[in-house]
Amino acid sequence: MSALSTSDKVIQVNLKKHVPEGPVTEDAFDIVQVPAPKPEDLKDGEVLLRAIYVSVDPYMRSRFINKPGYLLGPFQIGQPIESGTVAVILASKSSKYKEGDIVQGLLPWVEVLARDPKGLNHVQKDAGFPWSYYLGACGMPGLTAYAGLDKIAEPKKGEVALVSAAAGAVGQLVCQILKNVRGVKVIGIAGGSHKIDFLKKEIHVDSTIDYKSESLAKKIAEEAPEGLDIYWDNVGGETLELALRYSRPHMRIPVCGMISQYDLSEQEQAPLRGATRIVWNRIRIQGFIVGDLWAEYYDRFQKDMPEWIRQGKIKVVEDLVKGGLRNAPKAFIGMMKGDNLGKRVVEVTSGIDPYRK
Ligand SMILES: NC(=O)c1ccc[n+]([C@@H]2O[C@H](COP(=O)([O-])OP(=O)(O)OC[C@H]3O[C@@H](n4cnc5c(N)ncnc54)[C@H](OP(=O)(O)O)[C@@H]3O)[C@@H](O)[C@H]2O)c1
Repeated sequence: MSALSTSDKVIQVNLKKHVPEGPVTEDAFDIVQVPAPKPEDLKDGEVLLRAIYVSVDPYMRSRFINKPGYLLGPFQIGQPIESGTVAVILASKSSKYKEGDIVQGLLPWVEVLARDPKGLNHVQKDAGFPWSYYLGACGMPGLTAYAGLDKIAEPKKGEVALVSAAAGAVGQLVCQILKNVRGVKVIGIAGGSHKIDFLKKEIHVDSTIDYKSESLAKKIAEEAPEGLDIYWDNVGGETLELALRYSRPHMRIPVCGMISQYDLSEQEQAPLRGATRIVWNRIRIQGFIVGDLWAEYYDRFQKDMPEWIRQGKIKVVEDLVKGGLRNAPKAFIGMMKGDNLGKRVVEVTSGIDPYRK
């Protein structure tokens, strides 16, 4: 069977139970087989899609909590998990899409599906890099780094920045934009010697801190003796407190994420000691959600990021999980524990993307 044909049944990954707190485990997922939709089943305006890559992202953790008010709302028991997906159009009854087009958007975790293409965008097929980059550097995490830096961090040449989860999807891009585009000194924090090696040898940050084996406070004091101008927060908790402690006047803190707190109940979450420094040092600390910045930045970002990648200013490292959609739950669980180096994506269908070696 070719990668593009469909069998009678396809794999779908559903939510089995909500997880209000604690780590998400494999028993929260249900891997089932469902009948595959066929081209002849398409209604007018619909497309038939085969998933090529699905993304696993920390924000998805909030969707395992059955409470309204979280970003996209909770996943529903018995319904598929959803995430950013790159897919190929197998058949189309839409005037905007044709067979063979590559698209990306928020889609359910099912290998093949028929649906209205609303909310999907075309992926540039011949950009010169794997299409999965549209889930990473050229997609949501890339735009997060690009827009969050421009809008909130406002980096200036010669400043000093601290970046947490620096070897991850957003973090590696934040480090490189700061260093290679904006001329900022970058101190990258990551957990484990292989991530520290990556930051030093591949991304070439100015200095590193392995928070699993070194004292964060001691190393920040050594590496930024005059204090920090920017702290890019991906993790929250103690690291955010320490960044405040080593702040310079007028420091900016884009609060992109707080992954160290996502599995904790509100009562268990870390306090923010030393918050008075926000006043004395006139610190700008601002949470943001990339969706709010999409309209303002997307066009500029789509021009700049692929160009920076081609120019070598941005090196992209992906963490590709092979073996199909069955492995997506494990891929998500592992990423939340820090198993990934760079952007973690799951390859659902191999042999379609010509840039995937
Ligand atoms: N605001 C937005 O719109 C937006 C958009 C995208 C992402 N985000 C946020 O940005 C952050 C990074 O996301 P990403 O997609 O780039 O994921 P990622 O960094 O590729 O993967 C998550 C990383 O978080 C680190 N981590 C996990 N548990 C941790 C803990 N307890 N303490 C410290 N670090 C921990 C791990 O790296 P180590 O092994 O180095 O610890 C892990 O590799 C997340 O907080 C996410 O929610 C926000």
